[in-house]
Amino acid sequence: MYSEIDLNKTDINAEPPMEEPARQYFFIEKCRQSVMKMQEDLGRPLTCFIQTFGCQMNARDSEKLLGILQKIGYIPADSQDADFVLYNTCTVRENANLRVYGRLGELGRLKQKNPHMVIALCGCMMQEQEVVKKIQSSYRFVDIILGTFNIFMLAELLDTYWQTKDQVINIWRESGDIVEDLPSQRKYPFKSGVNIMYGCNNFCSYCIVPYVRGRERSRTPDEIECEIRRLVADGVLEVMLLGQNVNSYGKNLENPVSFAQLLRNIEQIDGLERIRFMTPHPKDLSDELIDVMASSEKICNHIHLPLQSGSSRLLKCMNRKYTKEHYLDLVSRIREKIPDVSLTTDIIVGFPGESEEDFEDTLDVVRKAKYDSAYTFIYSRRTGTPAAASTEQVPDDIVHQRFDRLLAVINEISHEVSRRYEKTVQKVLVECKDEHSPGLVTGRMTNNMLVHFPADESAIGQIIPVYLEECRGFYYMGRTKLSLN
Ligand code: 5AD
Ligand code: SF4
Repeated sequence: MYSEIDLNKTDINAEPPMEEPARQYFFIEKCRQSVMKMQEDLGRPLTCFIQTFGCQMNARDSEKLLGILQKIGYIPADSQDADFVLYNTCTVRENANLRVYGRLGELGRLKQKNPHMVIALCGCMMQEQEVVKKIQSSYRFVDIILGTFNIFMLAELLDTYWQTKDQVINIWRESGDIVEDLPSQRKYPFKSGVNIMYGCNNFCSYCIVPYVRGRERSRTPDEIECEIRRLVADGVLEVMLLGQNVNSYGKNLENPVSFAQLLRNIEQIDGLERIRFMTPHPKDLSDELIDVMASSEKICNHIHLPLQSGSSRLLKCMNRKYTKEHYLDLVSRIREKIPDVSLTTDIIVGFPGESEEDFEDTLDVVRKAKYDSAYTFIYSRRTGTPAAASTEQVPDDIVHQRFDRLLAVINEISHEVSRRYEKTVQKVLVECKDEHSPGLVTGRMTNNMLVHFPADESAIGQIIPVYLEECRGFYYMGRTKLSLN
């Protein structure tokens, strides 16, 4: 385990070990000595900055990457005017890629002013060959490129870069062993993401994730529980279990375990207060899982259940493997057993071939499912996915009109649904100072809604009862008992 490895005893002149994670600790130490030397020469500390694009998985990866950089000796900075800048990219939609290219231009200019600056790119976008070619030809100032399967090698690749001073590209086409047990720097001391599985086998026809994140691999329950116990001992109250389709968790393990069983085990961990998970797939959300949630004290009162479309015809084209009726039936089974559950969703507008009738079906499900909130996306054509080849792409103006109509329906419903807790007391995990209003803090209810209320900063990291005075759309304003007296 990391804390048991003494970096000072590493002989960096010896051959690097072949086994992991010892090999990476060797390179962390080697880089650490290089950073110390550079700091002495420059007479100032070296800083680092990570920009995360995309999902919770990337956010968790960035914590691991920051852990490595800090161990190497970099001090985190607030802006990309730093000595090591890393973009952890997303490619799920085209505009995520465009944002990265836009920001890269700015980085190039900063690097001209700071010759010590190292620029690295990692994440899903780097698994696309076209992207890497473009960076090789048009963004030569990028120093290190690594993919989604080998982020744990950051220190090794940084060392290679310093040895060669040439652009280092190391992208694996498929997953090797899962290397955990490296340093990690959590954004919040009291909550953490925990990867329970990697990859996706579903191949929804619009989605690039299976191509850039590979096939499903589950970590064993022992490893996961061990990590959570360590996190709890380190002050964590809430974990978010992460996987592209958590319902498939454990199916390919030597000793198969269901996701529901994993949750039962995790529930037993003393000191852990809240369990969240992201993301289940409606096609195989089991009654066992609903029962475990209904009887749990710790699993949060929230299910994110991506719909994508309400049309059975389109769902078939999307390869989602459920119908409108199946989805609505699932929603009623969930609501029957967990009456107060908050449901949220993802919806894509303008999937190829979407007709007015298909879109009406989506509106119909939105009205019936009564989501607390929904993430809505305009369909983005991803090269290499089956849907990208369709000749039935929907014209932009129609897509935008539908998008606005959908948003209006969602807002109307979710404002109505969200205010059901008004004038009640709910438990809130306080996360941070309210960025916009001095004297207030911001926390989260178990259903994931934000609450702002007056409290001292010392409340951060605690779960406290808060009286919810007023719902303002997607968040609440509240008061604590102290301020009520
Ligand atoms: N276009 C638009 N949205 C997409 N998503 C995935 N792929 C695409 C795409 N090509 C959305 C889905 C998924 C969420 C993470 O991103 O709604 O649930
Ligand atoms: Fe993409 Fe579908 Fe896998 Fe989700 S389940 S990551 S939408 S392929």
